[in-house]
Amino acid sequence: MAVTDILFEAAQDAMTRCHAPYSKFPVGAAILAEDGKVYKGANIENLAFPQGWCAECTAIGAMVMGGARRIIEIGVIAEKLAYCPPCGGCRQKIAEFADPSTLIHLYDGAGMVKTMTMNELLPFSFQTDTIDRG
Ligand code: THU
Repeated sequence: MAVTDILFEAAQDAMTRCHAPYSKFPVGAAILAEDGKVYKGANIENLAFPQGWCAECTAIGAMVMGGARRIIEIGVIAEKLAYCPPCGGCRQKIAEFADPSTLIHLYDGAGMVKTMTMNELLPFSFQTDTIDRG
């Protein structure tokens, strides 16, 4: 199966596990990581609204806890949008573990709609060599 199809199915599955009782806006994300594994996430909201977080954030947390550190490709799907561009905060979070050429796939309910690179999703991003990234 193509990576885009694997991530599509994984993102769809992740979306079914969202906790979005307030927005009623389910989102799913799936990451193919450097270790060859697929890590999934959904948005998890909270009654104290600002405490909720995005699907991409959950997937990144799953990847890091799984022991991987690099995103090879990532897919995002939202039930109520033809495609769901990751929010600004998530663009920065994805960039932390991605390269400028990392592929981001935005899916609709039927499959892939739009593919772009990290650099296209977050151009002119924060960069500095004054902080040691380890
Ligand atoms: N959401 C995501 O999960 N990812 C995004 O990139 C955009 C927004 C979630 C957050 C919230 O639970 C719901 O969608 C409505 O904003």
